[in-house]
Amino acid sequence: MRYEKQTLVIISLISIIAISQCTKIEGTDNDVKDTSLEMQTKMNDGKQSVIEQGKQIFRFDTFGDEDFWSGLLHIDKAILGEANGGYGAGVSPNTALAVGLKVDAEALPPEVVAGITSGAISLDDPKSTIALLKLNAVVGVRGNFDPGGTTLQSIGITCASCHSTVDNSFAEGVGKRLDGWPNRDLNVGAIVSLTDNALPIANMLHVSEPDLRNILSLWGPGKYPAILFMDGQAFRPDGKIAANLIPAAFGLKGIDLTTYTGWGDISYWNSFVANLEMHGKGNFSDPRLNDPKYPIAVENQFYNVVNNPDLITSKLPALRAYQHSLDAPKPPANSFNQAAAGKGKAIFLTKAKCASCHALPLYADNILHTSTEIGIDDFDAQRSPTGKYRTTPLGGLFAKSKGGYYHDGRFSSLADVVNHYNDHMSLQLTTTEKQNLVEFLKSL
Ligand code: HEC
Ligand code: HEC
Repeated sequence: MRYEKQTLVIISLISIIAISQCTKIEGTDNDVKDTSLEMQTKMNDGKQSVIEQGKQIFRFDTFGDEDFWSGLLHIDKAILGEANGGYGAGVSPNTALAVGLKVDAEALPPEVVAGITSGAISLDDPKSTIALLKLNAVVGVRGNFDPGGTTLQSIGITCASCHSTVDNSFAEGVGKRLDGWPNRDLNVGAIVSLTDNALPIANMLHVSEPDLRNILSLWGPGKYPAILFMDGQAFRPDGKIAANLIPAAFGLKGIDLTTYTGWGDISYWNSFVANLEMHGKGNFSDPRLNDPKYPIAVENQFYNVVNNPDLITSKLPALRAYQHSLDAPKPPANSFNQAAAGKGKAIFLTKAKCASCHALPLYADNILHTSTEIGIDDFDAQRSPTGKYRTTPLGGLFAKSKGGYYHDGRFSSLADVVNHYNDHMSLQLTTTEKQNLVEFLKSL
């Protein structure tokens, strides 16, 4: 019964979104005469509305994943806390901010801003989190309420939870949305471990519940292991936790293969994540996952997922259009030394041979490389059907500097990255050349 009601709420939400989008498209189509300038404008409007639809999907669409995050994991009940009809202490705004969730300041009406500023709205009370969810102000988390708007019935997550952050303009963790910027504060493991029903996930991964909770506690902020749920490998061969940094979702226009190991094009991966990681309800198929290398995927038939209705596939073109509209952001002019960066660029292009892979203008070559080419182990590469690493586009590096560099954050600074290449490729860079190269990387 509860499920049916939930599904109804989701379906009606989706129809509201769908109807409003249709209206938008019709509105632009009704636009007038066809002098060439007006045609141009009309075309731009049409394009704009697809991008705008993609933005709404990226920010707000859960693809029906409430059945997983609430129906199975009960995260909604964990947020409410015992005092409000859930379990445990509840999640206050301060707790939510502490696990890296962000608040969209532009979704807050003036009276709420005033209440937070004066302290009248307590940031230590889970009820305030419920109020923020009702305002749709928690980035990447959607709350569904009963028709009266008083009771939180379920929550779901969106792409923005991991791939957006805020500019902290109101307070730490509260500000304007920055879509495409990886949320390197988000502690996904801590959020999942709020569940009082970890056993199904533990069983899926063939570990005990305490072992699962240990694994969740080790991912840490800004990291998530997408392939764990395919191959069951929670740890690297060296015994350390296996989890990759949440990458940027900006600057990907022109990049053929997505993910650190080039699993597929952007719509392939978007569908992979929406279906298999967020547990939205769509159709997805990839025969490569029907392979003993991916025992968890085989057991759960992740290589062929069918849902009726499919809440994902029809949204993929708009989602891609939005992602491709997100250019890599430019760093603040005072965040690097301009003169040194200029000299560093010359080194990047010549002596250091960086541009042989990080080719301009994307700072990427659309070629996959072996682990020996870049001088690291092949553990993560071998977990991908490609067996290789993809050249990371370097635009907007400053926006992904938290948590380190390379897929698992193994290099804690750009200087470490440059030293690594200097040793591995015997570049014989001088100290000054290395410093200039780092300033150039900071300028991208
Ligand atoms: C729980 C956090 C999380 C959520 C939610 C999430 N992602 Fe990701 N995303 C990741 C991680 C981690 C990777 C890196 C995967 C890898 O290569 O190991 C990634 C990779 C990507 C990439 C590849 C980027 C590149 O450099 O090639 C794209 C594109 C992407 N995600 C889009 C999306 C979209 C669209 C959604 C929503 C449908 C989404 N993600 C939801 C964590 C997340
Ligand atoms: C043989 C091709 C190749 C060459 C040459 C190369 N890179 Fe890379 N680069 C890669 C690949 C592949 C990755 C992704 C590695 C990973 O994520 O594990 C990468 C990642 C990076 C990153 C990390 C980006 C991030 O967001 O984590 C930086 C920074 C970088 N390279 C800078 C450089 C510099 C500077 C040089 C020249 C000294 C250079 N690269 C030369 C292929 C190359």
